[in-house]
Amino acid sequence: MKEIYFSNTEYNDILNQLNQLMQEADQIAVADHKVLLYQILQLFDSIHREPLARIQEALQKNPDLKREIESDAAVEKLMSLYDLLEVNVNSNSQDEKQVAFIPEDQVMMMQVPKKKDWLELGDVSDFEQNKLYPKNYQKVNFIISKIGTDVFAIQNQCDGSFLPIDQGKIENHVLICPWHGCQYDIRTGKAVDESNKKIEIFPVEIEDGKLLKVEIAYE
Ligand code: FES
Repeated sequence: MKEIYFSNTEYNDILNQLNQLMQEADQIAVADHKVLLYQILQLFDSIHREPLARIQEALQKNPDLKREIESDAAVEKLMSLYDLLEVNVNSNSQDEKQVAFIPEDQVMMMQVPKKKDWLELGDVSDFEQNKLYPKNYQKVNFIISKIGTDVFAIQNQCDGSFLPIDQGKIENHVLICPWHGCQYDIRTGKAVDESNKKIEIFPVEIEDGKLLKVEIAYE
């Protein structure tokens, strides 16, 4: 097909440049900026993916035209970046390695990295032994529990349910759900039975032996 704005070489250069920028963007340290960037990229992906998929579907009705269009290097590349190429008619393994926009198998699964904050919860001595203290920060519900000299922070929600578990009880580092009796090791968040159930735990620090801090990851 006719080259219009760029030659195939220039087009590949642009993709390589984008690839480079994506790698640099991955190093962005400020979580807010990274989240914003990923959200923009995901929306760009969506607004291109849908019409491209529709074009591809329409082309199924005209196999000759489809073949002709997909044999163009730039079109083939774009279609392959969006997982829309059924047969890699012009597959060039060298090119495939050079150009990596957002790998197809990762686009839909791109995880927005969670933000993290250290939350100060006051004097650790104010927390009684073996009790469950429900807390909330940035829509994350969690429980604080002090056992001996250790303090634990764990998600306040049973795995596979929306039910909170802070009305349960704690026995030998095992948190027992008040609803149907699921038991979680408060140190790991893992169920103590054979099920694969698991709830999130959060890092805890006691600054200067006094100030209780918990690091909450949130979206
Ligand atoms: S909700 Fe926790 S065991 Fe059922």
